[in-house]
Amino acid sequence: MRIKYNRYGILVFLLLGILTGCTGSPSMLTPYGEDAVLTASLTWLMFAIAGAVLLVISALLWMTYRRSRGAWDEKEFYTNDHKYLRNVLLGGGLLPLVVLMITMGLGIGVENATNVPNAKAASAIEIEVIGHQWWWEVHYSNQKFDTANEIHIPVGQPVTLRVTSADVIHSLWIPELHGKIDMIPGQTNTITLEADKAGTYRGQCAEYCGVQHAHMALFVIAESSTDFHAWLDDQNKSGVEPKVGSLEQTGEQVFLGSSCVYCHNIAGTNASGHVGPDLTHLASRVTIGSGLLPNTPGNLAGWIVNSQSVKPGNHMPPMDLNGDQVQALLAYLGSLK
Ligand code: CUA
Repeated sequence: MRIKYNRYGILVFLLLGILTGCTGSPSMLTPYGEDAVLTASLTWLMFAIAGAVLLVISALLWMTYRRSRGAWDEKEFYTNDHKYLRNVLLGGGLLPLVVLMITMGLGIGVENATNVPNAKAASAIEIEVIGHQWWWEVHYSNQKFDTANEIHIPVGQPVTLRVTSADVIHSLWIPELHGKIDMIPGQTNTITLEADKAGTYRGQCAEYCGVQHAHMALFVIAESSTDFHAWLDDQNKSGVEPKVGSLEQTGEQVFLGSSCVYCHNIAGTNASGHVGPDLTHLASRVTIGSGLLPNTPGNLAGWIVNSQSVKPGNHMPPMDLNGDQVQALLAYLGSLK
């Protein structure tokens, strides 16, 4: 049996397939920050120019096709040297040159406008973000605490982001707020970040950096100035001290008595490792594993016992703990608000 395909049906299907890449959140086509608006506008402008070029070329092809079937004098076309050469030079040389120069100029213009520290943000909040395989270390200037995988910013205020890397090249990309910025070991790149609307914006590592590159997400939480400063105050506090004789205290002992302390820091305790994320306020974060899983006790238990089963290749080894130890540890980590 021969299957009949509808040519137009296939075309529409392919176009829809391409367009699915434009939907969903986060999308750079729904910008919520000054620089992101510039980038999105450039995208639409480039799209319009490319569309116009496509239309002109399609029209020319169509005309050629029509002429080749009709009374087109091929001999006349090729013998008329000057006209032929002129058309080739104008249509094939000058026109593409002009179009490409315009698009290149627009691209450079937007790049210059977005990839430089914004003068307005000179005196504002500065945040340092360090890329690791495969998570994000976050410091705020003039603050004592370290955090990871979440950046809180006040809404409507430009903040300066200084980015670098501790190992390989990563790239920080928060599509709704900014274009991509490379995180290069030994170099600090600076951008200005601003969110016009309160909300949670997902970011993603945009430079292949190893086996868990796809699971290197982060969240930017834009909130009111009051909420932002309340968050800063909370983060500056030491870890919660568990009550004597409580399950949380047992959990703290499990934590401090295991190899966790070599890689993680919890302010106010002897755990002062800096290989993995700071856990002083782990319970205040939305996800674990750098955006991989919601921060729930079940997910956390699975992660602690064997994070290799959920994020193979990450640098945390499986922990040999019994059920009681895991329960106590969960209670303790859950108390680190
Ligand atoms: Cu980090 Cu890709």
